[in-house]
Amino acid sequence: MSLPANVTIREVGPRDGLQNEQPVPVEARVRLIDCLSGTGLTHIEAGAFVHPDAIPAMAGSEDVFAGIRRVPGVCYSALVPNVRGMERAVAAGADRAEVVLSASDTHNRRNVRRSTDESLAGIPAIVQVARDAQIDVDGVVATAFGCPYEGDIEPREVGRLVRALLDAGCGSVALGDTTGMATPTRIGAVLDAVADVPVDVIAVHLHDTRGTGLANLLWALQAGITHFDASVGGLGGCPYAPGASGNIVTEDAVHMLQDMGVDCGVDLDALIGCAARAEGMVGRPLASQVLRAGPRTRLTAVPADVPDRAGR
Ligand code: COA
Ligand code: ZN
Repeated sequence: MSLPANVTIREVGPRDGLQNEQPVPVEARVRLIDCLSGTGLTHIEAGAFVHPDAIPAMAGSEDVFAGIRRVPGVCYSALVPNVRGMERAVAAGADRAEVVLSASDTHNRRNVRRSTDESLAGIPAIVQVARDAQIDVDGVVATAFGCPYEGDIEPREVGRLVRALLDAGCGSVALGDTTGMATPTRIGAVLDAVADVPVDVIAVHLHDTRGTGLANLLWALQAGITHFDASVGGLGGCPYAPGASGNIVTEDAVHMLQDMGVDCGVDLDALIGCAARAEGMVGRPLASQVLRAGPRTRLTAVPADVPDRAGR
């Protein structure tokens, strides 16, 4: 079995994660991002320039961008829903932007009040604003592996949207499992539907809603995918998707990948420290398993008072 030597991780906890939590103060968001930028992660989705009534937890993203300590080599991006959002992102100094459309019309309408094709028609204007500011835009196809309202989505339709986003000027497109409906063979079916697209412009955005997250990641990895989204601590989900839970957990993914010899360029202990901070921020236990158990290399001292097998 051959695995890639390196993968890149886009850390989406400060956006996809926190947008589904009770709003936390801007200063706490800034501290989380500054913690993450010290781990070796090279891409952090730091906020969203959406309507504050649509996603209250992302209000103040301008202040987040103004407050973070920029680490050279780290890309700080933002999600934008429209031209207005892109203009706000440029003014705030975002390095890159993400545009999302949903493969499910129903989900897309609930998210941004227009059809999928209407959203698609709006992408070139957003990309133009970004180009004028010399920044790149990446696409995300949400509900690419199933929609909570419409059920299964045809992989062919996902393929059409991926190609359309690339044609509209996106530098890459992430296949989004918005509500964790993928299983490994469904990952394979959608990847087959984009087999004509260069693999290095495809990313996979997984949620672990039903416990299939890391299995899905491994399947995609074996199919040659090297770009993944993940969320520190497993923060978050999408507030418009019933039953949504967090993204796959960054430290759980990094722990597994690095042990398999796949380099993520991340300091796992530093990342675990950020996960503990994220948990403190939201004030409830997060899904992270490596935060709980520690890495497999962390040995436990043998208790002095326990007799050994010989009963001594
Ligand atoms: N940021 C802030 N305000 C915005 C905005 C943006 N990106 N885009 C539009 N607005 C404002 C307009 O200025 C207008 O304000 P006004 O009523 O004071 O004049 C108002 O919102 C309505 O504008 P309109 O263009 O009709 O937008 P809309 O009502 O169709 O809302 C979105 C569409 C996209 C702005 C809104 O649904 C949204 O922000 N959705 C984000 C969803 C999301 O992030 N989901 C999570 C990702 S999975
Ligand atoms: Zn998501």
